[in-house]
Amino acid sequence: MAKPPLSMKPTGWFQVAWSDEIGVGDVHTMKYFDQEMIAWRAESGQLTVMNAYCEHLGAHLGFGGTVVGEVLQCPFHGWQWSREGRNVCIPYEDRPNRGRRIKTYPVTECNQSVYIWHDMDGRAPFFDAPNVFGSFEGDSNVDAYYPQQRLFRQGLELHPQYVLENGVDFAHFKYVHETPIVPVFTRHDFTEPVSFVDFTITFEGDDGQKIEDVDSGVEAINGGLGIAVTKSWGMVDNRTISAITPVDEFTSDVRFMVYIGRPTGRAAEGDPARAETKARAFGEEVIRQFTQDVHIWAHQRYSDPPALASSEQQGFTAIRAWAMQFYPDGGGGSAAELAAAHERRSS
Ligand code: FES
Ligand SMILES: [Fe+2]
Repeated sequence: MAKPPLSMKPTGWFQVAWSDEIGVGDVHTMKYFDQEMIAWRAESGQLTVMNAYCEHLGAHLGFGGTVVGEVLQCPFHGWQWSREGRNVCIPYEDRPNRGRRIKTYPVTECNQSVYIWHDMDGRAPFFDAPNVFGSFEGDSNVDAYYPQQRLFRQGLELHPQYVLENGVDFAHFKYVHETPIVPVFTRHDFTEPVSFVDFTITFEGDDGQKIEDVDSGVEAINGGLGIAVTKSWGMVDNRTISAITPVDEFTSDVRFMVYIGRPTGRAAEGDPARAETKARAFGEEVIRQFTQDVHIWAHQRYSDPPALASSEQQGFTAIRAWAMQFYPDGGGGSAAELAAAHERRSS
């Protein structure tokens, strides 16, 4: 694989697990951003994500560590660590070691997912993770949808930015997803760390139709590089979440989730079992379409500067300038400065 010339340690919210993988008292091990990490759920239900190694003599807390009420106990010598990563008990001493601390990550649970805030400089979160049922205007009710369907692909050689660039890449829909006609973007808003992309798209009909006559589309919200949520309109009601998390310098884990809307009105009077089977099949189809993208991303090489068609110039320039704010070496500047810097690099 060509190592992407983009940092694999970007800033933002990234999915590290699903909430239902970590019950009360569970200690879950994982590796992201080149770090061994653990997630553990205290008796109160609170979830902590921290680096995996005990600050005492370096035992891996994911191998035999136990949750005791609201703290985590190391399997090696019984030292106990709080949700803030502080040592709160050395069982054979009068007082804990107040100086040592295990690195913990800001964590939030949303979209049935566990997200951590990753930032090389230790800055606090400066945007919220998008909520697939809360961030869009209007309705927002998980009960109106069938259960979440999932895809999990580990250790793929791809960078999170590839996935986001789909949001400005109108031309790929026809070739990768076999849409009858090329979609058209109606909104590109890259002014904030949370960006918005809307487009008109159809999967029905033939190539004789005009995009102006199409009455369906997708709204997407990108919460940094790690999480994107979408909502459809004018077609089978679906919501999706894609979450890409770097594992090391070369690979990322890919998670994709879809919710299909339950029937409403007259349609709700039909056979519920049949409706659910149909919905599941549609969800599988949405996942299949996402895997068509994954197949491209997992083998692509980041092209910089890319050979863009003139109609692609604006969207790609905007999203690449926006993306730079999340890189440890690219950030800090205004969107305009970032765009100018990008221009210079591309010329
Ligand atoms: S290594 Fe964890 S208590 Fe000793
Ligand atoms: Fe795509």
